[in-house]
Amino acid sequence: MYALGLPHAHWSLILIPFFGGLVGGSAVNRTIDDVFGDRVTGDLVQYLPEVPATEGPLWFNQTSCNGCAGVPDASLTLDNTWSAARYLADIGSMSLSMKFSGTAIYVFFVIPNFAAGTGLASAVICDFFIDGAAVGSFSHESDGSGAFTYNTLVYRNTSIPAGDHVLLIETTGASPAVIIFDYALYTYVPPVFFVANFT
Ligand SMILES: *[C@@H]1O[C@H](CO)[C@@H](O)[C@H](O)[C@H]1NC(C)=O
Ligand SMILES: *[C@@H]1O[C@H](CO)[C@@H](O)[C@H](O)[C@H]1NC(C)=O
Ligand SMILES: *[C@@H]1O[C@H](CO)[C@@H](O)[C@H](O)[C@H]1NC(C)=O
Repeated sequence: MYALGLPHAHWSLILIPFFGGLVGGSAVNRTIDDVFGDRVTGDLVQYLPEVPATEGPLWFNQTSCNGCAGVPDASLTLDNTWSAARYLADIGSMSLSMKFSGTAIYVFFVIPNFAAGTGLASAVICDFFIDGAAVGSFSHESDGSGAFTYNTLVYRNTSIPAGDHVLLIETTGASPAVIIFDYALYTYVPPVFFVANFT
């Protein structure tokens, strides 16, 4: 037995290329909706700061703003949902964060273009962090048209080490801004199993 030189496990690994013992799916994109969260894991997006409904709330969605003027058309968003907040300097920091397990992430916003004089923040401003490290930022100045642009990719990263991560999207600083989050996609790579075939 010992004279064979290799434990059985090694034999099975060596034989895999010839007997097709690899079991594992290919990479797939999963969706994290702003309201329904990750449809596979059930994890929800976390919105901060949490302000009591009686005082605001700071973050609101298509439900709380049913019939509001100057909000996105929910029928043009993923799952008919969007989540938004207006940022002012005295808030200090506001953010949304989500967990994902994968090698790439794509973040989609609805971009507003409020006309000057509406009193609404005209800019979209935010920074992106993965596992606490700054990885990018996005900004957009209103073109004054009043139109929303849907399904806008605001951050993409296709070189993330496989594993569990947290994406944080933060708005901070002195400038007023507005964030309208619709959804994110992440690329999940199923684990590969080696199946030994002892015949
Ligand atoms: C995931 O979605 C992005 C953005 O639409 C796309 O470029 C990429 O090819 C997709 N990846 C997979 C594995 O489907
Ligand atoms: C959407 O808004 C409704 C009404 O304000 C609130 O009850 C609900 O918690 C919100 N959902 C999320 C995910 O923020
Ligand atoms: C992607 O994320 C990794 C960390 O997970 C980071 O090192 C890298 O700078 C990011 N790349 C981009 C284009 O944001």
